[in-house]
Amino acid sequence: MSSINIIGGKPLLGEIEIQGSKNAALPILAGTILHQGVTRLEGCPKISDVLHMSEILEELGCVVTWEKKTLIVDATTLSKHAVVGEVAKKTRASVLFLGALLGREKTAVVSYPGGCSIGERPIDLHLAALRKLGVSIKEDLDLLYCNVAQMTGSKIHFSFPSVGATENIILASVLAEGETNLYNAAREPEIVALCEFLVAAGANISGIGTSHLKIEGVQELKEVTYKIPADRIVAGTYLTAVAGAGGSAVLHGVREKEIRMVVKMLRKAGCSVDFSGEHCLIRREKRLKSVSKIETKPFPGFPTDMQSQFMAILSTAMGESKIVENIFEARFLVADELVKMGANIEIRQDTSTAIIYGVKQLHGTPVVGKDLRGAAALVIAGLMADGVTTVSGMEYVMRGYEDICSDLISLGANVTESVCRIAK
Ligand code: EPZ
Repeated sequence: MSSINIIGGKPLLGEIEIQGSKNAALPILAGTILHQGVTRLEGCPKISDVLHMSEILEELGCVVTWEKKTLIVDATTLSKHAVVGEVAKKTRASVLFLGALLGREKTAVVSYPGGCSIGERPIDLHLAALRKLGVSIKEDLDLLYCNVAQMTGSKIHFSFPSVGATENIILASVLAEGETNLYNAAREPEIVALCEFLVAAGANISGIGTSHLKIEGVQELKEVTYKIPADRIVAGTYLTAVAGAGGSAVLHGVREKEIRMVVKMLRKAGCSVDFSGEHCLIRREKRLKSVSKIETKPFPGFPTDMQSQFMAILSTAMGESKIVENIFEARFLVADELVKMGANIEIRQDTSTAIIYGVKQLHGTPVVGKDLRGAAALVIAGLMADGVTTVSGMEYVMRGYEDICSDLISLGANVTESVCRIAK
C-alpha cells in the first residue's frame, strides 16, 4: 500500500490549475471506439483509471499514445469485442465499453464490474435500458454476452438518474437506427461533456444538460479533437482542503455552475468563496461553523463524491453537523479513520446519516484510505491535524488525482510522500 506523511496545522496559500475530469474522461475514452479512426483528447488526466481504460482500448486492438497531456486513440484496428478478465476489473468504468461496443460492433462480452467498498453498485438499470434498445443479454457467471442485429431507437425511462446507465445508453444509441428518448437521465456535468464530445464528432443529441435527452442515430462519427473539462470534484476537494486547513487559494479552471452546492455549503460553514470567470478564490480565517444538514443527491444536488471531504472538515467545526448519504449504501468508511484522529462522529446506518460533533483539534496518527474520496478526505484531515499523519491507501487517490502531493505542496503543505502519483 502506498502512503504519504503529512505534518499538519499549517494554513494553505497559493494557486492551483485544476486537472482534467476523471468522470468525463472515462466515458469519453469508451466513446472513442465509435469512430473508426483517430480521436485526440486534450487535457486528459494522467490517472490510473485512465491508464486502465487505455489498457482495455489496446486489448481491443486500438492504438493509444500520449503527446504531453493529449491522449490519442486510433480505433481503426479495433478487432475484439470482449472486455473481460483482470484488466476489466481494474476500473468499474470498464462497463461503459458495453454500450460503445454494441454501438459500433453490435456485439460485446463484458465482465460484471462488481461492487466496491462504497456499495454493491449493480448495473440492472444499464441492462434493462439496453434490452429496450433490442439488445439480447445472456448472463453466465460474471460475464455478460450481448448482441443486437440492429440497434433501434426507443423510449427509455430511468427509475433513477444513474450516471453510468445514462452514459451507456448514450454510447449505444448515437449510431442506432432512429431516435432514442431518455427520460429521467442523469444531468451531471460529465454527461454534458460526453454529449458535447459526441456532438463534436458528428452525433445528433439534443436536450444536453437536461433530464430528457433525444438522440437521433447517425451513420458514422468523424475524427475530433476534444478538450476534457476540468474536474469539479478535484476542485471541490482542494476547496475543502483550504476550508479545513485555513488560509486562501486561487483555483484555475473551476466552473461555478458545476459546484454550486459545494460552494453553498462552504459559505454556510464560514468560508468566503468568489469567482472571476473560471478562477475561484477561497479564504478561511476563523474556525469553521457547523452545517446543520448536507444531503447528497443527483446533480444539481450536493455531490456524493464530496461527502467524505466535508465529513473531514466539519469534524473540527463549531457545533453539530449532519450528513445524509442518499446515493451509496456504504460511503461512510472514512468516519472510523477520522475518529482515530480524534473526531467525534456517530453513524446511524438505518437512516444513512452521519452526525459530526465538532472537536477543537484533530491529532496526527496513521490512518487507512479505503476508497478514492475517503482517502482524499484523510489527506485533508492530515492537513488539519497537529503532528504527523500517515495516510496509506494512496493507490485509491491515484485513481482520480494526478498529483495531489505536488498540488498541496504548491499551496505550502508539508507533505513527504512515498508514492502518490502514477509514473509520468
Ligand atoms: C458515477 O458512478 C461516478 N463514477 C461516481 O464517482 C459517482 O459517485 C456516481 O456516478 C454518482 O454521481 C464515474 O463516473 C466513473 P450511478 P456510477 O450509476 O455511474 C445505483 C468517484 O468517486 N445503481 O449514478 O456507478 C448505484 O448502486 C466515483 O469518482 C443501481 O442500483 O453511479 C448507486 O447506489 C465514485 N443500478 C446509485 O445508483 C444501476 O444499474 C448511483 O449510481 C446503476 C446504479
